[in-house]
Amino acid sequence: MNFIPVSQPKIGDREKAYVNQALDSGWVSSLGVFIERLEEEFSRYIGVKHTIAVSNGTVAIHLALAALGIKPGDEVIIPDLTFVATANAVAYCGAVPVLADVDPVSLCLTAETIKAKLTSRTKAIIPVHLYGQPAEMDAIKRLADEHHLWVVEDVAEAHGAAWKGKKVGSWGHCGTFSLYGNKIITTGEGGLITTDDEALAQRLRFLRDHGMSKDKRYWHTELAYNYRITNLQAALGVAQLEQIDQFLSRRKEILGLYQKELKGLPGVTLNPQVPGGESVCWLVCLRHDNWTETSRAQFMQKLKEKGVDSRPFFYPLSQMPIYEQDRKLTPVSNAVYEKGINLPTYIDLTDDQIKTVSRCVRELLA
Ligand SMILES: Cc1ncc(COP(=O)(O)O)c(C=O)c1O
Repeated sequence: MNFIPVSQPKIGDREKAYVNQALDSGWVSSLGVFIERLEEEFSRYIGVKHTIAVSNGTVAIHLALAALGIKPGDEVIIPDLTFVATANAVAYCGAVPVLADVDPVSLCLTAETIKAKLTSRTKAIIPVHLYGQPAEMDAIKRLADEHHLWVVEDVAEAHGAAWKGKKVGSWGHCGTFSLYGNKIITTGEGGLITTDDEALAQRLRFLRDHGMSKDKRYWHTELAYNYRITNLQAALGVAQLEQIDQFLSRRKEILGLYQKELKGLPGVTLNPQVPGGESVCWLVCLRHDNWTETSRAQFMQKLKEKGVDSRPFFYPLSQMPIYEQDRKLTPVSNAVYEKGINLPTYIDLTDDQIKTVSRCVRELLA
């Protein structure tokens, strides 16, 4: 049997045609029509006024925080259960990532868990829509507005998901997206920042390009960054974005088939549907009530021996030396992380392969 990976990008004729067009045009760096198209078409897709394309999803968060003026000593509330990039982007500003707990079902921040971490130094909140599941953005936005806090949504894993009928990435002051190769759409490496705020969009563009004066080329008044994307990457991104609806519906079908094949396994749940949320299936999340870190690792190893790759849920940041804090402060994150894995989820995964993976899972859990 061929080895089944967790993720694999879907690159077809359209991607190749657009990248070739970009190559033929000679515009291979950070000017070119595909960057403008990607930004315009993504704004339309999410339902915002502006999109700023950048080099990856990590710098998207950093640039958003920098543009909002987050500085040393500020506190930014983030979930304990997330990819490390969310915390690192805060640390790049010299600010303190404050780890709040997640909801046991959605695995996202809630207004309640955020409230518990507010101090006079809190300046921003970064809800992460983990594994395609949207956080409760209406309640979070209300709380943020009451306390005059910035909201930067980390949408790296949830392109197209919505909360109460409105796409995530359009709720906060900014939304940040990743276009890494394993994401819902990809540019190889890449990121996007969405916002409705014209002044903020201008500031993001300014900071993305070394803080160069609009009126005087090669004149720089403050420390900024080269966080630009290339026209080649954007060409790939435009081709992918044009297919996002098909990509998302295939991912939904994949989850549906896993749900059917794995139905009735004691202690096992797959991606939940949270009332109010329209999730997308970035990755199939399989949770087992009885797993510990050790038994989960053994399961993943045995699955690998059967030719099926999987990946563990993120470790809580509170367990990592650079962001360590008392695990009792975020009990849900510290209980749930070892109960879950992600199963193979990608567009070209066939129904037969899903049945094979499901059969292997069943055999190993029997
Ligand atoms: C939740 C989350 N935030 C941020 C990132 C960073 O994105 P990138 O890998 O494009 O820098 C990722 C993805 O890898 C992610 O999963």
